[in-house]
Amino acid sequence: METIIKKIGLDCKPEDLKEAAEYIRSGKLVAFPTETVYGLGGNAFDSTASSRIYAAKGRPSDNPLIVHIADLKDIEPLVKEIPSEARQLAEKFWPGPLTMILYKSDVVPKETTGGLDTVAIRMPSHPIAAALRKASDVPISAPSSKTSSLPSTTKAEHVIEDLYGKIDMIIDGGSSDIGLESTIVDLTVKPALILRPGYITYEMLKEIIPDIEYDKAVLKRQRDDSIVAKAPGMKYRHYAPKGELTIFEGSIKDVSVAVKKAAEEKLKEGYKVGILTSDELAEEYSSISFEPGLKIIKIGSREDEETIAAGLFDSLRSFDRAGSDYIFAESFDSENIGQAIMNRMMKAAGYHIVSLTVS
Ligand code: TXA
Ligand code: MG
Repeated sequence: METIIKKIGLDCKPEDLKEAAEYIRSGKLVAFPTETVYGLGGNAFDSTASSRIYAAKGRPSDNPLIVHIADLKDIEPLVKEIPSEARQLAEKFWPGPLTMILYKSDVVPKETTGGLDTVAIRMPSHPIAAALRKASDVPISAPSSKTSSLPSTTKAEHVIEDLYGKIDMIIDGGSSDIGLESTIVDLTVKPALILRPGYITYEMLKEIIPDIEYDKAVLKRQRDDSIVAKAPGMKYRHYAPKGELTIFEGSIKDVSVAVKKAAEEKLKEGYKVGILTSDELAEEYSSISFEPGLKIIKIGSREDEETIAAGLFDSLRSFDRAGSDYIFAESFDSENIGQAIMNRMMKAAGYHIVSLTVS
């Protein structure tokens, strides 16, 4: 299939999105930037378009898609009812990186919701995502625009790596600012549950829904098959680079010593190795930094969780491009956005965490 790549600026005008919108309306697939990650868009009312999304991503068809809207009034036809908590969350956080699960109406095909009677809805703030939705005049289902199980895409070049030749158009609108997918809140249960942590944190949500809780699977720190995630997509191996990622946790001094040792061992065995390090620990690896086969990525200060979030998936993809067989990373604080960062990292590592704290 021919994939058209189109560069569009953030100051886009409705006519810049005309062709892409026609594609969406006619059942074609268009990847586009959002403030979280790139999305793979299709007409959410068109069950064939949804099936094409699953095929292009290699995604299991029981894993529901997120539906993008551009205006609060777009939500009404999609759902059975809008609980008052949903209105309050929308008022506070939309447009933005928050997705809400509500009971779906009959116009949303089961293909879009992976067979569920609920639907995930989000109003993105990115100007291109919003303009595309408006120009298309239909809700756009937009899962992360990537091959299922790989790290999400935060730049058009990542989407090209995964989906070129499999979809109709890729809109290159630069990098996604946030870099992690939206926070998902399930409002069909009491108390409301956070199914996926993101930029909108537990603390922020609690101000509006005081009894909100995390789905148990979000807080999981180790592989435990008895805890099954409520969001179907969170139960699969996810965000994973091709190399084997190991996370080291403990005091930062112990971590740097252990990472260095692990890297040296694998290099000696002839493997390619990646180290994902904070600025604070980067100096500790200077003595091995010129080893052939070693790629070190400095992701930012440990204090600056927004920068770490924004660079995480890009870093994991860079290790893949370098052919790293093993990737060693320090763990980050899990407060605020750190909760989302560690959630993605632990999944990417298949919960392979080495704990250096002596208990
Ligand atoms: O930031 C985002 O949310 C991005 C951008 C492109 O909007 N989209 C995204 O979509 O991350 P996706 O499809 O990759 O992730 C959707 C997640 C999956 O884990 C899925 O299982 C869950 O949301 N989900 C969707 N509908 C659901 C539902 N009705 N009930 C429970 N979980 C649902
Ligand atoms: Mg996804």
